[in-house]
Amino acid sequence: MIRIENLEKKLAGSEVLRNVSLQVEKGEFVALIGGSGSGKSVLLKHIAGLMQPDAGHIWLDGVDLCSARKKTLEKIRRRYGFVFQGGALFDSMTIYENLAFPLEEKTRLSEVEIKEKIAKTLEQVELAGVESKYPAQLSGGMVKRTALARAIIMDPEIIFFDEPTTGLDPIIADSMLKLFDAFRKRLNLTGIIVSHRIPQIFSIVQKVAMLHKGMIITAPCENGSINTENEIIRQFVEGTIEGPVQYE
Ligand SMILES: Nc1ncnc2c1ncn2[C@@H]1O[C@H](COP(=O)(O)OP(=O)(O)OP(=O)(O)O)[C@@H](O)[C@H]1O
Ligand SMILES: [Mg+2]
Repeated sequence: MIRIENLEKKLAGSEVLRNVSLQVEKGEFVALIGGSGSGKSVLLKHIAGLMQPDAGHIWLDGVDLCSARKKTLEKIRRRYGFVFQGGALFDSMTIYENLAFPLEEKTRLSEVEIKEKIAKTLEQVELAGVESKYPAQLSGGMVKRTALARAIIMDPEIIFFDEPTTGLDPIIADSMLKLFDAFRKRLNLTGIIVSHRIPQIFSIVQKVAMLHKGMIITAPCENGSINTENEIIRQFVEGTIEGPVQYE
């Protein structure tokens, strides 16, 4: 479904993406892991069409995003649900307004239909009834779940979530991961999730992609654990200081 081939990107003189290739199948969730500053968010922004690579391709069902026209790109982005790192909701808008925004802009749903859709989506993320609250009135976990609600409200086929559990306590973090798992199964979603929640993230993905020195190393996940002999992934996952992964 998503095929990334030999992606290269230099930022401020350094090669953030040197040669990134990755394939994500329909109905598959991939955990994108890697050290801070390794380029995970940059890679997601490329897939979202917010950054252009210096070289390489990103194919979505056979359409090359890097050479697609603006209209085609817009169409493709409608199939996406995105949550960027940090930026989640508009603080000056209520939860209702935050969720209604894309529906009012991009669909022809009536006000009543929008209201119903918002109520249903909030229920799906276990946040029924928070419509009139402002983001500042919610806990961190509730904000993340609202961000997930906004990402899925347009019925996307593919979701990208940059760090859905960062800053949450372990129990809330894992309930967030369970929510993702339920969505994948129920809606046959495809997804890329950037997460430092290791090893818990392995129980809801089918594949792990580690970004290291501008390249991707992948490993399959089965029954909650990662199946690889790769020393770089193993060291990172085990969090040991000695090994091929070194920080300057
Ligand atoms: N717009 C930009 N201009 C210049 N450099 C950038 C830009 N965006 C990111 N970078 C640089 O690219 C590198 C990768 O950044 P990125 O945000 O993708 O890291 P990350 O893997 O998401 O890290 P973290 O786990 O901390 O979120 C960093 O060195 C960062 O400073
Ligand atoms: Mg990041």
